[in-house]
Amino acid sequence: MHIALGSDHAGFSIKEWIREYLLQQGHDILDMGTERDDIKTDYPDFAFLVASEVAEGNVDRGILVCGSGIGMSIAANKITGAYAALVWDKDTAILSRAHNNSNILCIGGRKLKPEEVIEILELWLKTEFQGGRHLKRFEKIAARERALCLSIEGDGPGETVIFHHPLIQHKVSMIRDKNTSVKEFRELVAEISGLMVYEITRKLPLENIEVETPIAKTEAYALSGKKLAIVPVLRAGLGMVDGILQLIPNAKVGHIGLYRDPQTLEPVEYYCKLPGDIGEREILVIDPMLATGGSASAAISLVKKKGAKKVSLVCLIAAPEGVKKVHSEHPEVNIYAAALDDHLNDHAYIVPGLGDAGDRLFGTK
Ligand code: PRP
Ligand code: URA
Repeated sequence: MHIALGSDHAGFSIKEWIREYLLQQGHDILDMGTERDDIKTDYPDFAFLVASEVAEGNVDRGILVCGSGIGMSIAANKITGAYAALVWDKDTAILSRAHNNSNILCIGGRKLKPEEVIEILELWLKTEFQGGRHLKRFEKIAARERALCLSIEGDGPGETVIFHHPLIQHKVSMIRDKNTSVKEFRELVAEISGLMVYEITRKLPLENIEVETPIAKTEAYALSGKKLAIVPVLRAGLGMVDGILQLIPNAKVGHIGLYRDPQTLEPVEYYCKLPGDIGEREILVIDPMLATGGSASAAISLVKKKGAKKVSLVCLIAAPEGVKKVHSEHPEVNIYAAALDDHLNDHAYIVPGLGDAGDRLFGTK
């Protein structure tokens, strides 16, 4: 097994000892420090290093040692994808794997004797995750973590990110309500779109600039390089444009005209006008509803055909069917949604959804 290892000064001697033991057992070890015990170090530094290696899939497992193991487990679990367990005996070694699918073992270097550590290591390394009822629980943690952490930290390609932000959720409930007026509906769609894009743009690159205030010159920041283009899918996607442009007034706006044939449910293209420099911009395809996924997938194919390299889909309500289709046809595309609903009805409307988004935005029903 490929195992990343880390400790602070308090866990150093046990960490050294673990490394030698694991090497003898034929494991491949990535020792991420610390390198001595006579200089005080901070356990989060090593926890983040090891946990990141595990979460990114560069190693199979991680092992962290500090005085009690507690600090390491708290810090490691701040990394998305790290499932660090504080283990102190044979039983918790087995349970942390069999039930909790832990991928990082945290132990207290000042709490355990070397022979106890050996027993724990052997059991933790050889115990398989049992799955079954434990899988459901593990998946709940993973889903929650993804939703929370991705909205805060950013995301990898091909993720679905649901924004649990209270303001977004409150407003989504209002647009679902069939009694919400066209005016309110329009305003709310714009507001939710702006709030979502605020989260989505968290990782846009910045460059240093110099600004002169009335008091002094100072270093400041500006968005660097070519920025965003938003591409609403007509008609309903238009409802999301203003909320986004309020935050990013310089974003270019392309338009794709598609409607879903009511009989075949296949998307029918009727218009396409995109910015000329689409290949240099990050593209947000926007459409409030992701139902079968036919329209979104066709729109993404179109922007890619015209040269777009980095594309994300931003919708308000997504159905699992649409998410699956977009991910299978465009595995590198992130889907950002305010809600993931239950299913589609016989007419391919999202349940519970909000009805026909275009009609509700433009009052055409
Ligand atoms: C709606 C919606 C999406 C599409 C979603 O548009 O705005 O574009 O349906 O359905 P799908 O995922 O099954 O393709 P619609 O076709 O009703 O056109 P409109 O925006 O002009 O009302
Ligand atoms: N288009 C909509 O506007 N609403 C749905 O529920 C499905 C497709």
